[in-house]
Amino acid sequence: MREHETTVRRGRRKFDDDDSDFLKRGRLEPRLAEDPDLPETGDNWSTWDGALHGPEPRPEWVRTEHAAVDDELGMLKTGKEADVFLVRRHVPGTGKVSMLAAKRYRDGDHRLFHRDAGYLEGRRVRRSRENRAMANRSSFGKEMIAGQWAVAEFGALSHLWALGQESGLVRVPYPVQLIGTELMLEFIGNWETGEAAPRLAQVRAEPDQLADLWQQMTDALSVLARAQVAHGDLSPYNTLVHEDRLVLIDLPQIVDVIGNPQGADFIARDVRNVAGWFTQRGLRVDADELLERLLYEAGIK
Ligand SMILES: Nc1ncnc2c1ncn2[C@@H]1O[C@H](COP(=O)(O)OP(=O)(O)OP(=O)(O)O)[C@@H](O)[C@H]1O
Ligand SMILES: [Mg+2]
Repeated sequence: MREHETTVRRGRRKFDDDDSDFLKRGRLEPRLAEDPDLPETGDNWSTWDGALHGPEPRPEWVRTEHAAVDDELGMLKTGKEADVFLVRRHVPGTGKVSMLAAKRYRDGDHRLFHRDAGYLEGRRVRRSRENRAMANRSSFGKEMIAGQWAVAEFGALSHLWALGQESGLVRVPYPVQLIGTELMLEFIGNWETGEAAPRLAQVRAEPDQLADLWQQMTDALSVLARAQVAHGDLSPYNTLVHEDRLVLIDLPQIVDVIGNPQGADFIARDVRNVAGWFTQRGLRVDADELLERLLYEAGIK
């Protein structure tokens, strides 16, 4: 029953709508409280200053101005581990606008799925106070774990974004910034209407288009394999289709396939998940041959 839930926060309606069409349902109400520290237009000052920034060279649309403000337009989706919000960052009176997806990791108590144990083992932080807090699952520790997922995803996106710039063969949202448990990414979708790009799982493609999407998927997998990483949770749900291009998302669990003894299994699972979907849609794909090639490219075989 999550689909049409609405919640009230700071006097404004937030829509948790799978189809992210909340913008079509009418304007969000203006801010209620007047606070002298807040900008005259916009919900809040941009949080760019104080944040960890994404890789350079930065796309020109990234708003770095001190005068930029953030308008929170509503919720795009609640996931198992995080909520994703749509934010418009703009410089009032200039027409300089960027649209961002703010992914906010929830702490362990509010997540529907726990994968901390296995995945986080290799990622111990050096300071013992933090280690103890995480082991005890104190509220500080829970916040730390949520923060580690955000850090991991920010790092993965930064890496893959750079690989995409070099190769032109893999695309991920540009990671704009990271603060604590929140990462802000390039919004993949229509920047005018706020409509998010559909997930691959929702796309009805003609045979030609299907073949083209599969080609893009195998190209992306090759780039990942050569970089010796696996997505770790690749699926038609964690892939968006924007203007006929595949965009991979949801990367906190990216796997180093050389360091991880199950590296080959992770690659195989990613391949199986996406190949299965294309096969169901009627495309003939050779998943075994692809897997062989990827393992070779990763240097595993
Ligand atoms: N950069 C983006 N641009 C547009 N939409 C996005 C973006 N990032 C995430 N979304 C939307 O939010 C959804 C959830 O994002 P993501 O998969 O990263 O989080 P999650 O918590 O792992 O969710 P889930 O449990 O559904 O996998 C995506 O399926 C997509 O619809
Ligand atoms: Mg996801």
